[in-house]
Amino acid sequence: MNRPQFVLFALLGLQTFIVCAQSTENTVTEMPSPVNGGGIKLPELNALEIQGRKIYLEGKLTNGHPVTAIGAGNTRISGSQASCVSCHRHSGLGGVEGNEVIPPISGPALFGLGEPVIVQIDKRFNQSMSTPSTNYNAKTFAAAIRLGRHVSGRKLNALMPRFDLPSDQLQALEAYLRTLSVTWSPGVKENEVHLATVITPDISPERLKVFIDTLNAMVAQHNVNVVSGKRQRIRPIERLLHSRRYWKVDVWDLKGPSSTWGEQLEQRQQKNPVFAVLSGLSQDEWQPVQNFCEINKVPCWFPSVDLVPDNAEKGAYSLYFSGGVELEAKVIVNQVLSAEKKPQKIIQLVGHNALAKKSSEKIQNILGMTAIDMRIIEWSPQNLEQISDEFNKLHPQDVLISWLTKDELNDLVKVVSAPSVPIYLSSTFLGEDVPAWSKEWGSNAWLVQRLELPKIREANLWRFKDWLKNRQLPLIDEKMQSEVFFAVNSFSWMLSSMLNNLHTDYLIDRTESLLSMRDTMQVQEEIQTLMMGGGGRKPKEIKSSLEAPLVVATKPVSIDINLLTKRESTTAYPRIGLSNNQRFASKGAYIRKLTPEADYYDGINAKWIIP
Ligand code: HEC
Repeated sequence: MNRPQFVLFALLGLQTFIVCAQSTENTVTEMPSPVNGGGIKLPELNALEIQGRKIYLEGKLTNGHPVTAIGAGNTRISGSQASCVSCHRHSGLGGVEGNEVIPPISGPALFGLGEPVIVQIDKRFNQSMSTPSTNYNAKTFAAAIRLGRHVSGRKLNALMPRFDLPSDQLQALEAYLRTLSVTWSPGVKENEVHLATVITPDISPERLKVFIDTLNAMVAQHNVNVVSGKRQRIRPIERLLHSRRYWKVDVWDLKGPSSTWGEQLEQRQQKNPVFAVLSGLSQDEWQPVQNFCEINKVPCWFPSVDLVPDNAEKGAYSLYFSGGVELEAKVIVNQVLSAEKKPQKIIQLVGHNALAKKSSEKIQNILGMTAIDMRIIEWSPQNLEQISDEFNKLHPQDVLISWLTKDELNDLVKVVSAPSVPIYLSSTFLGEDVPAWSKEWGSNAWLVQRLELPKIREANLWRFKDWLKNRQLPLIDEKMQSEVFFAVNSFSWMLSSMLNNLHTDYLIDRTESLLSMRDTMQVQEEIQTLMMGGGGRKPKEIKSSLEAPLVVATKPVSIDINLLTKRESTTAYPRIGLSNNQRFASKGAYIRKLTPEADYYDGINAKWIIP
């Protein structure tokens, strides 16, 4: 029952942590059961496994009491602090926690079910590790959990707590571990990963074309590299471990009212299941798509949407660039309420589109309970007089919030003079161009923007723009096209780093861990950019991590975070990063004066606010 030692590869500092386990017993396969009255069949857990899951995810025993354990430094820990998921992650495939490598503890890794488990560990610091050589059984598993003893007999790292668990609870835990990351998620085949992108019906044909052209070009590039197999972009380790697969991406274009989208998505998934929803496009609702992703455990990977679902932060499988117009609303409220003199009245000007209406509702929802007199005025060329009257009644500390497009605002400022109150404008609707307005309008106006400031953005997006040029694709919508570029690039990066472990839980685990490293880098990079005066192209000679040669070393090598992260610093958003359970990659928005001088961050003309 010897399992081969796990092998350490150092791939430009990335280590591959290989746990080869031989199959010693047959897996008891659960009878799959339908989810939500249809859809793709996901395995359902039995009663014992559910008890085990409670220990694993919540640190709770079957009787509801918290699990207790002795943690690092001989401290007593309990409950969620001691939950396995906090270190070994949802997939059970581990990762890195602080400076420590957390090994995989899925059924195949510990008990030798099925294929060998080979995972890549991103180590930032040198550290030696010992290698497991034998499969665990009930007895050795108990010794690991209770006494901190490795199957080889050595002492486990003190970070691994010693748990006070009775036998029946250990049994439940083992049963649950045996269900973790056993078979590939739906949509994965030997040589292919099936994906979909989702389009809602509100998208115009022109916008759809820009989106699809950009997405197709990105996917084609991935597939060419896979098929030829010779391109330098595929590292030998990826070929060796068969971690690069051809992508088949379907376009799921939804039809009719949003109440029917859920069913449409379920039907498509049932007919031809996908591993993930890669990017996506909507200017209206995204809630039904997120619901579908959560129910089916299909990652919804960075769609281009301005209106995120209300429960976006609670999803386990849905990742977004930012909190959309709701984030803008929160940033405005944050500003309004931090003023020395609180407003008595807030007027919101709402343009002729569903998104503007929903944006104003967000403000209404947050401030509706306060004593502030909240007014919503629908913009139309017919009621300019009414708007003017309302403006005249405002007091200096009152506030005007505009959800108008540039055309709508230009029509307004031609006729109506500016109220002398703070005016908040949304760049989601207005863009960043200064409207054709008078000085009084301009002097009171603040733009709320989720995207990076123009000069820094220009510097961040050079790689994306070069790529467009090389592909002879026109730059029509910088925000949306660069979102697609990042979505596909980062997906490709994550997928190849997952090697052959194509489990959707693992995709999210790895994203949280790799993008959180990126966050650290981004902050440092930004400080540097600011110190250099905010502009300047980034040096081109920095190679992407995938182009680097393979180094096989016997000793761990520390990771070069620069190389790891450089490849993805290509978004239009500032400070991209995700850590555990975060669902918005960029967490704040700028508030800035709409003048050329305000195109840099100085804390007065432009402020970054995380509400
Ligand atoms: C605070 C972090 C932490 C928590 C919580 C934690 N572990 Fe671990 N675990 C580790 C670390 C670190 C190791 C590696 C120790 C070593 O190899 O020396 C490990 C190793 C193991 C091993 C041995 C794996 C091998 O390759 O031989 C098993 C089994 C295990 N953990 C199971 C669990 C279970 C089950 C839980 C929850 C009841 C749990 N762990 C909770 C950190 C943790």
